[in-house]
Amino acid sequence: MTREASYFLPSYFDAQFDAVIHFAGLKAVGESAQKPLLYYNNNLIGTITLLEVMAAHGCKKLVFSSSATVYGWPKEVPCTEEFPLSAANPYGRTKLTIEEICRDVHRAEPDWKIILSRYFNPVGAHPSGYIGEDPRGVPNNLMPFIQQVAVGRRPALTIFGNDYNTVDGTGVRDFIHVVDLADGHIAALLKLEEADIGCEVYNLGTGKGTSVSEIVRAFEHASGKKIPLVKAGRRPGDAEIVYASTEKAERELKWKAKYGIDDMCRDQWNWASKNPYGYGPPDSTD
Ligand code: UFG
Repeated sequence: MTREASYFLPSYFDAQFDAVIHFAGLKAVGESAQKPLLYYNNNLIGTITLLEVMAAHGCKKLVFSSSATVYGWPKEVPCTEEFPLSAANPYGRTKLTIEEICRDVHRAEPDWKIILSRYFNPVGAHPSGYIGEDPRGVPNNLMPFIQQVAVGRRPALTIFGNDYNTVDGTGVRDFIHVVDLADGHIAALLKLEEADIGCEVYNLGTGKGTSVSEIVRAFEHASGKKIPLVKAGRRPGDAEIVYASTEKAERELKWKAKYGIDDMCRDQWNWASKNPYGYGPPDSTD
């Protein structure tokens, strides 16, 4: 079988598909610096293969999960989609490169319709408490770490940097509820139905900055748990303040985030308290 022929799905899979949402990818910044080839192989080759399979099936509509990481350390906020782009680590470079690949694919074949969604900081969980984030090993990101401290799996949260030029010295991010983010994808899929869309980029954020200390306090309030803190220096590669301009998404996708920090913490705690060990058995912690 030729490489190309192998892209055709087995005959029992005869359903047509109209569009693809491409969420898959490795995303740990530190790991990407240690294992760059793993990241380039998985994220870049995986995406190229996906684009080839889509083309082989005549499906040319894609929503790709990019990241606010492509803004690097922005010179000002809010970040608009036109800001200069940079990458501080191999993970970020894969996002940046995939964006470029998508632009090239569209340039070469203008019948492709592609939306690059730049996620800010997704947090929270489904309000049912059945679906939430369950990272393997020590969490890299803030909210899963806070959650594991709250349920007693880790003794304290380390705060990376308290000397930033921000409201309380800690870093500021644009946290967005995962349900709002999911709605953003529906809006993007609907946008792909429009005739004149080519390859477009949209920020998926709330447009509001919240400091690390502020979100810790909000989580303490939602959970009724005290989060012990350890102060440490800045984490290499971290930007000071990152939040989105949401104007383009509001105007063109007719989408706007509905949930605030308290909703995000409430739903994350609902998931955490019902599933303190995520999807695994109670001894699955490490
Ligand atoms: N932070 C802490 N302690 C922790 C973890 C994080 O103080 O234990 C701070 C960070 O220093 C930063 C803020 O919390 O100021 C947010 O950090 P995250 O790691 O949660 O998220 P980032 O803003 O660093 O974003 C990173 C990548 C994004 C990626 C995102 C989600 O840069 O590209 O994680 O994976 F999308």
